[in-house]
Parts: sequence; structure tokens; C-alpha cells
Amino acid sequence: MVWAKEYWVLMGFIVIIGWLLWCRRKQKNKMKRNSGVPKGNLGWPFIGETLAFISCGYTSQPVSFMDKRKSLYGKVFKTHILGTPLIVSTDPDVNKAVLQDHGSTFVPAYPKSIRELLGDFSILQMNGNLQKKIHSQIAGFLRSAQFKTRITKDIESSVKLTLATWKDRHLIYVQEEVKKITFQVLGKVLMSIDPGEDLHFLKREFEEFIKGLICLPIKLPGTRLHKSLKAKEKLLKMVKRVVEERKLAMEKAGEKGAAKDVIDVLLRDNKEANEKQYLPVDFISGNIIEMMIPGEETMPTAITLAVKFLSDSPVALKQLTEENMELKRQKADSVQDFTWSDYLSLPFTQNVISETLRMANIINGVWRKAIKDVEIKGHLIPEGWCVLTSFISVHMDEQNYHNPYHFDPWRWEKIGGATVNNNNFTPFGGGQRLCPGLELSRLEISIFLHHLVTSYGWVAENDEIIHFPTVKMKKKLPITVIPIRT
Ligand code: HEM
Repeated sequence: MVWAKEYWVLMGFIVIIGWLLWCRRKQKNKMKRNSGVPKGNLGWPFIGETLAFISCGYTSQPVSFMDKRKSLYGKVFKTHILGTPLIVSTDPDVNKAVLQDHGSTFVPAYPKSIRELLGDFSILQMNGNLQKKIHSQIAGFLRSAQFKTRITKDIESSVKLTLATWKDRHLIYVQEEVKKITFQVLGKVLMSIDPGEDLHFLKREFEEFIKGLICLPIKLPGTRLHKSLKAKEKLLKMVKRVVEERKLAMEKAGEKGAAKDVIDVLLRDNKEANEKQYLPVDFISGNIIEMMIPGEETMPTAITLAVKFLSDSPVALKQLTEENMELKRQKADSVQDFTWSDYLSLPFTQNVISETLRMANIINGVWRKAIKDVEIKGHLIPEGWCVLTSFISVHMDEQNYHNPYHFDPWRWEKIGGATVNNNNFTPFGGGQRLCPGLELSRLEISIFLHHLVTSYGWVAENDEIIHFPTVKMKKKLPITVIPIRT
């Protein structure tokens, strides 16, 4: 009995010593691994440098947080914000290497509240072959000529109907008005839903759902996250009904003609790969809702900021109006309707859109997590660390754009237009996850600007851009409109 007691004491002692040695080795390994991590300051325990980051977000120069650290530590540095130790890259080459990775080294990393709200199989979170396949199916559909022809008509009619209601109104809040248009278009693109009860329900519940994207990750009843998850349940129920109806119709009648929306694409996609098996209805419905996230906030912001920058730049507005008036005159003499290529072929209008996207930085960068140690341009990014590829730092860098805070659409004439191969211009991200809505976004902004400047003149009230937590206008951009007589 006595022997047994001594035995257990000895065993306990050995286990404790073993555990201490293991911890020490782990700590040493961690220090060794992190010794090549870019320079920087991790700030205070827990909060890191979050306060400095957020306070810069509320100024007119949110990039000053990055600029200050860039001048101290170089283009790639470490910090600690929003609860995460982080490596920030303001270097276009490093950003490119991170974005081009095919999921073998970097995976998307979102704050916990976002991860809770996205499903496990959301395109925004998924990785590997399934993400590649779904991404290319959706991108192919959104790029197809058939889709663009159809959606051009839908966008036109939505824009014209909304603008017509401005005639008898004195003050227009651009940000609110534009949201009506862009949500209608999103409803069409994803599920061919027309304005009415269902769309109204979808918009209301979706707005409730996304309020929880940046919040404390606590799921208790009454909390923001809980309310958002409830809204998602309602959305899922409604979208599932539509997907089920469409699936039934497809089973009965077969696939006729080209896919008309993303539900069609996802239903058909899997049949090709797996003979007669459809993707599960839950998977399709969840992804339809999650695909609204990148489209819902970004589009109205892009259009609103284009109007803001043009209001502040009368010379650019004049040139844009002349170019669009000319197109309107040409079309008036022809029997043919406007096509998507008519809208996208106006060079100055496209330069205004590029300049708006450069300065707006609606998505100011993307977060990824390294799943193994990797070295890029001499910077070590250890396994488990998050990387923020800061697009805003590249877009507002004097080295890349002369006088970067000046709205100058003419600069794009010298750059030679915006292409996806330009590492200094990444409003739509790049590589594996390059935004599939890129061309649709340009089309929608072009159509809106065309009908706005050919129908109305306007005077904008003073308003300012807010950059945190998301980009928007403080007073929703109020303008007084004056109809143009042509
Ligand atoms: C001006 C408007 C827009 C901007 C600035 C924008 C920007 C972006 C960016 C930066 C990404 C990359 C995210 C990452 O790498 O993690 C992205 C992805 C995505 N965008 Fe957009 N977007 C816009 C409009 C749209 C629209 C209208 C749609 C849908 C119809 C859309 C659908 C998507 C989807 C589905 C992804 C995820 C792709 C993937 O992870 O495979 N976006 N967007």
C-alpha cells in the first residue's frame, strides 16, 4: 500500500516535469518560429492596437493607421486588432501572392460573429475544389452574354422606375434610393424574384440578418447575434421554398434554355458532375443568402460614392454628362435598345467608375489565415497567423497614384484603363476569389449614372464619408434634383 503511494507520487512528479519540459519546448519553438515574423507592435494585452485602428477609421484618412506603421516597420508589419494578432501587408506583391494561393496555404478568416452567421458550406468560407467549382460556375454565369442581355433590361427598368419617382420630390437621399434598385437587381440575379411581397420580406429580414455581422459573438436570446440568426432562419425558410419549387419544376419539365439565375446554376451544376443528384436544397438556399452579403452593401455604396465624387468634381461631371448625352442621341436615332456593351463602352464613364472604386475602398482588404508556415518576399508568416491584405493602403499610396486623395478619373487614361492584372488596383480582390460580380457591378453603376446624368441635374448638400465599420455617407447623401429638358 505504502509502495503504491510512493509510486503514484513519483509518477505524478515525472508527468509534471514532462509537461513543463513540453511547454518550454513549445514556447521555444513558437519564439523560434515567430522570430522571423515582420516587425511591429502587438500593443496592449487583449485589445492590442484596436483603439488606434478604430479611431483612424472615424477620420477622413482611415489609412493613416497603416501609413504610420508602414513608415516605422516597412510595408509588411505585425499588429493586434479586433482580438487577433495580425500581419498586415500594404505591399501589392505580397497581397498578390496571398490572393493567388489556391487554399493550400491560406484560408479565409472572418471574425467569430461572421463565422457564426455564415453556414459551414458558404462560398465565402469554403475551400478547395468545391469553392473552385461553385465560384467558376457562378462567375461564368454572371459573365455570360445571355445573362448580361437580360439583366441590362432589368437594371434599366428598375433605375428608370426609381428615377421617375424623383420628379415630384424635393430632397433625395441617394444612399437609400439606390439601395432599392440594387436589392431588386440582386433578387433577380440570385432567384429571379420580382418586386412585391416576397422581395419586401427578403429585404427586411436580410437587413436584420446582416446587422449581426460585426457584433459580440454571444448567442443568448436578446443578443444581436441571436436576433440575426433568427432572421436567417426566416430567410432560409423562404428561400428553401423557392428552391424546392424550382427543383420540382426542373424535374418535371427538364432543363430548358440557359440558366436564368444563380438558383438555376446551382441546381444544374451538380447534375452534370453527379449524374442525377442535385446539390442539397439546404446548401443551395444557404449559399443564395450568403451571396447577398458581398453584393448588398457594396453596390449601393459604390453608386452613392460615384454621385458624391462627381458632385465635388464639376469638370468630371460635365465630361461624363456629355459622353452619356452623346450615347443617348445616337440611340434616339436608332431603333435598337441599349445593350450592355453600349453602357460599358463609354471610356470616360468607366474611368469615373475605376476612380470611384479606387478611392471608395468599399472592401478595404481581405483577411486570410495561414495553415502552414510560409515566406513571402522575405517575410515569414507562421502557421495560425492571420494576414490582412490592405487594398486601401495600395490604392492611397503616393508611389502608386500621384496625389491619391484627389478624384482624378483622367489618371486612368494614362494607366491604360483598369484591368484585373493590375496589382495596384484590387477593389474586387484577386486570384482564386476574385469577385464574380465584378462586371455586373460595373454594368449596374454605368446604367445608373447614364440615366441619372441624362435625366437630372442636382445639387448635393454637404455630407461626409464614414469609413468604419463599413463605408457609407454620414447623412445618406441628400441631393436636390432638377429634371433636364431634352
Ligand atoms: C462594387 C461592388 C463590389 C465590390 C467592391 C466587391 C468586392 C469583392 C471582393 C474584394 C471580394 C473578394 C473577397 C475575398 O477574397 O475573400 C468579393 C467576393 C465575392 N463577391 Fe463581390 N463585390 C462587389 C459586388 C458584388 C456583387 C454585385 C455580387 C453578386 C451578385 C458579388 C458576389 C461576390 C461573391 C459571391 C464573392 C465570393 C467569391 C468567392 O469567395 O469565391 N460581389 N467581392
